[in-house]
Amino acid sequence: MNIEIRNNLITEISCDTLIISLYEDPNSITKTNDSHLDTLVHEFLRDNPASGKYGETNMITILPSTGYKRILLLGLGKEADLTTDKIRQLSAIAIRNVRKARSKTVAAILYQTTTDKIHPMSVAKSMVEGTLLGNYQFLYYKTEAKDSKYIEKFTIINLSLSHQTQLEQAVLNATVIADSVNYARDLVNHPACYMTPSKLAASAVEIANQEKNIEVSVLNTQEMQQLGMSALLAVAQGSTEAPKLITLKYIGDKSSTDLTAYVGKGITFDSGGISLKPSNNMGEMKGDMAGAAAVLAAMQAIARLKPKTNLLAVIPCSENMPSGCALKPGDVIKSMSGYTIEIISTDAEGRLLLADAITYAKKLGATKIVDIATLTGACVVALGTITSGVITNDTAWCQQVLAAAEQCGEKMWQLPAYDEYKEQIKSDIADLKNSGGRFAGTITAGLFIEKFTANTPWVHIDIAGTSDSASEKGYNVKGATGAPVRTLIQLAMNQEDL
Ligand code: BES
Ligand code: ZN
Ligand code: MN
Repeated sequence: MNIEIRNNLITEISCDTLIISLYEDPNSITKTNDSHLDTLVHEFLRDNPASGKYGETNMITILPSTGYKRILLLGLGKEADLTTDKIRQLSAIAIRNVRKARSKTVAAILYQTTTDKIHPMSVAKSMVEGTLLGNYQFLYYKTEAKDSKYIEKFTIINLSLSHQTQLEQAVLNATVIADSVNYARDLVNHPACYMTPSKLAASAVEIANQEKNIEVSVLNTQEMQQLGMSALLAVAQGSTEAPKLITLKYIGDKSSTDLTAYVGKGITFDSGGISLKPSNNMGEMKGDMAGAAAVLAAMQAIARLKPKTNLLAVIPCSENMPSGCALKPGDVIKSMSGYTIEIISTDAEGRLLLADAITYAKKLGATKIVDIATLTGACVVALGTITSGVITNDTAWCQQVLAAAEQCGEKMWQLPAYDEYKEQIKSDIADLKNSGGRFAGTITAGLFIEKFTANTPWVHIDIAGTSDSASEKGYNVKGATGAPVRTLIQLAMNQEDL
């Protein structure tokens, strides 16, 4: 979809569908400065007074003589309740409506606000994000995808004729961000037979080839052996797919030695290993690399947006499979850090991978860490599919992550990480065990990883519940959500101002 923002009069517009927004508040319709159109909308509202309700849509077919065939009236709800996240949700609802009507070219009047609570730049950015995210479809394996359903062009019309340069920048940034979120969704939606560790590594190389300001390296099994990454390799040993350790580096501020590491869990399929999962819905475990996808996608956007900060991505990739050479419950392994780990469950594999990845990130100079992982079913039980779980060893760093999440409407909630919980992951025969049992599973998983941060400021984001959506809702469609790509990008952009 081609996206642009233009200073235009309504009479200059030519498109299949024109989107006009209105509030629930009486008399607060968008002023189009076109008496013909204003009258038409007023008449419609007189007959359909509930039209401004949040998410309400009405398609009006227009007689010839205007530049557009249809109007979609989009209810924004009460103006006082409008937020940037609601703008995203609403724009997604609108674009899917328009797509169903088979429009190819679409124009939307920039949602107008009478207060300065939301800057027009934020309105434009949120409209673009919502539109691109809501219009997302995963059609790679559909042989009969209907071309007629694709929207070719989306134009935002800025009737106020002001802020044009700023608005253009906002639209460009939003396009970069949403494209990356959709890229992460693609990576996650692909089946595990396609999206193997090697394929993830090839995708990282492709990104580095396109974005000249990113350096990539991919370690193979032998190189990981030499580095002593036995925890990561223990997970991989049951599979015939070769594990890969991807690193990407973006240096946007040569004058600084600060290096923020994004570490993403890349289990391309989690069968549970010898501690085999039940077969019901096991296919969902193709998405156990959503953390990896988020980090990769965020790096792509960061390379394009070029914030003045330094970032390192470390992405450990493997399958978790049962076989004659698989890791077994009861085994003891030695991680790259030197700490030994007793394996209670081979299904608690993510933390093994992350342990070595974090040790490696530190070796490469990471001064701050965020790890992102579909780590525990317990997180889904605790927070459902709405909110990601957060664990930290550094309140200030955590505040920055939570602030970035808040800014882009991705919900996160910090869980307690008191020392007392560490009792649950003490092993009789090794330094740690890889499962703390049923209670507080998200917290004990987090505290397991914390051991390997060795006091480097660290935030862990458990996206087990939020990386996937069971149904179409707002800017999410069924399948991968691309969470928390936008937070990772925003966090990098915010580092610039510090
Ligand atoms: N990948 C799973 C966690 C998961 C569950 C992600 C549901 C998305 C949806 C992880 O590797 C896992 O299996 N965790 C175990 C840990 C337990 C054995 C300590 C779990 O949550 O049951
Ligand atoms: Zn897993
Ligand atoms: Mn598992």
